[in-house]
Amino acid sequence: MSGEKDPRTEGGMQMDIKSLVDPEGGLINRRIFADREIYELERERLFARCWLYLGHESEVPNPGDFVAAYMGEEPVILWRDLSGRLRAFLNLCRHRGNRVCRADRGNAKLLVCSYHGWTYSSDGNLAVVPMADAFRDLDRAQWSLIPVAQLDTYKGLIFATFDPDAPTLLEYLGDMAWYLDILLDRRAGGTEVSGPHRWVVDANWKTAAENFGGDGYHIASTHSSARELGVDTTTSQTRSRAKGCQISCGNGHVLVAWKIPPDDAGPWFAQPVTELADYMREHAAEIDSRLGPARARKVAPSAGTVFPNFSLHWLTRTIRVWHPRGPDRMEIWSWAIVDKAASPKIKDVMRFVSQYRFSPAGVFEQDDMDNWIQVTRAAHSVIGRRFPANYQMSLSEETGDAELRGRLTSRWSDCNQLNLYTHWARMLEAKDWNEIKSSSAERREPVAR
Ligand code: FES
Ligand code: FE
Repeated sequence: MSGEKDPRTEGGMQMDIKSLVDPEGGLINRRIFADREIYELERERLFARCWLYLGHESEVPNPGDFVAAYMGEEPVILWRDLSGRLRAFLNLCRHRGNRVCRADRGNAKLLVCSYHGWTYSSDGNLAVVPMADAFRDLDRAQWSLIPVAQLDTYKGLIFATFDPDAPTLLEYLGDMAWYLDILLDRRAGGTEVSGPHRWVVDANWKTAAENFGGDGYHIASTHSSARELGVDTTTSQTRSRAKGCQISCGNGHVLVAWKIPPDDAGPWFAQPVTELADYMREHAAEIDSRLGPARARKVAPSAGTVFPNFSLHWLTRTIRVWHPRGPDRMEIWSWAIVDKAASPKIKDVMRFVSQYRFSPAGVFEQDDMDNWIQVTRAAHSVIGRRFPANYQMSLSEETGDAELRGRLTSRWSDCNQLNLYTHWARMLEAKDWNEIKSSSAERREPVAR
């Protein structure tokens, strides 16, 4: 990345990213939800170098299977090649740049560009060029599809990065992987997904990432009508009996969780419907042995965000990507994720629980989206943007627990959100991964007051 132009100063503009995020004062400048310049910097410095979620292994089980995906705004083909290896390429024909893959998913040995017919094999090689003799010294080996720099999987989830200098996926996920296991590794065989639902919302992608990453505060207000109707993401008993906490795993990864009370300690705790609590009871021994006592009986994550734009809800089994589509628009891709070993009946319950709450028509999703749209609009208000947004909810002491990973604070806190935005600012400032790693090592995360 050395020699790269600094997008912060291109066009004569100097942007002081750090000044937009004040973790000590709990203030965020609304510009981060609206400015085109900041958005372009995010494209360069977040989406072109972070590990981003591409899809689930169950979507491409066989050689030749492919799905069209995105990394930020970059269209990508996720393709299992004919030898069975997972690959991902920019969905861009090397000739003039037409999109090579026009289907959402399928199985193919070759993909043929619809413009002039350049044809690529599943390992990305340019296999066929119509009228190749008419080209001067065309070396087909130089004109393969552009691959991602690194691709790896974590227990069924497929991630990739365009940055060869990014740390390994495991290093990138850090302590967040320990919590992801609670969703991904509960039963033998792992998980499978259905979906995605895809839709566009006129809101900045970060409004959703921060909400899933720690906003327990909004639930009573935003989702009160759903809860009055008896639709919830957990049982009412959970809120009265369990203490909640925010957990910050470093590298911008954040989640909210319930600490399970000792007199009801088991993986059934907090499950949103009786059928799923019974399912967890039935398989508790297996879950215990796979996850160990802390993750099976002590903590029940509800929602979280893998930095920057992959979020999940453990209890209602949705996973989703907030694809950026400009500073004030995102495209949401949302899947239901179920245990592969579950019976067809339980899988149906899991999918219904997921989609009834989180999907374009989901009861909770609709409540959330309208708020995110309004927050984004506020960032365009000439007067409103003179005043910062408040992230000062961090009234309680830390609630550390030696058996759990990450940094724990009260559920009623903005620490997770501030940690996410502190990391966001750090990544936008840093020229390369060495700088990101060294500033992360030195960082002092916002302290609960
Ligand atoms: Fe693909 Fe010409 S743009 S063959
Ligand atoms: Fe919500």
